[in-house]
Amino acid sequence: MRVPADLTVPVLAIDGPSGTGKGTIAGQVAKHLGWHTLDSGALYRAIAFLAVENRIGPGDTDGLEALAKSSVVEFAVTLDGVNILVDNRNITDEVRSEAGGKNASIYAKIPVVREALLYRQQAMRTAPGLVADGRDMGTVVFPDAFLKVFLEASATVRAQRRHKQLRGKGFDVKLRALEREIAERDEQDRNRTVSPLVPAADAIVLDTSEKDIAQVFTDVMQLVDERLASKEVSLT
Ligand code: DC
Repeated sequence: MRVPADLTVPVLAIDGPSGTGKGTIAGQVAKHLGWHTLDSGALYRAIAFLAVENRIGPGDTDGLEALAKSSVVEFAVTLDGVNILVDNRNITDEVRSEAGGKNASIYAKIPVVREALLYRQQAMRTAPGLVADGRDMGTVVFPDAFLKVFLEASATVRAQRRHKQLRGKGFDVKLRALEREIAERDEQDRNRTVSPLVPAADAIVLDTSEKDIAQVFTDVMQLVDERLASKEVSLT
């Protein structure tokens, strides 16, 4: 039985392409507010990982639907960040790789996968509030979010950020190859027919190319505070 999400719980939607810092910002804002987080990209990454592992191709819609509906994906907060677990198996490193992102983008185009994950994402809307990051948080999953922020940055800057981030985690990646992969993934995410990566009509677009994380956090928190004050969204 599906439990309906509590629509009175406030949601902050943070969307945008990879490398804009949306995951980091979502985590910081959620911590500051004491709210929950939803890293929707991690869900797509986990399902794509399982599909590849079980040899379920993008064309096998029945197999994908069953997989997306049945697999238990959990997030565990550790000192090193959030770990992604499926059936108690830690798959964080495998899914956080560039190959993991590429596979996620391929499987994320398939309507049955998105449909199966839609309710799971909406069910994560629990008190006192949710900060959700992804591609379609403001357009499809939480269209009634009290604030929708769409983070942008030039492809070059995003590739440089990812390069630094992945190198820091010990992945041996080349900047050129990253730039190419980011461009390909952008193209795929922006041009798919279901839930494409576009800002919601009522989203506030922030270009982060020239800003560091601390500045973006300040900008987003200012917007949050203004909205919470003007819309009288309760923080309790
Ligand atoms: O945010 P991320 O890089 O972890 O996302 C990986 C891929 O998953 C992304 O390229 C497209 C897909 N995705 C999606 O289609 N919808 C979302 N809400 C989040 C991610």
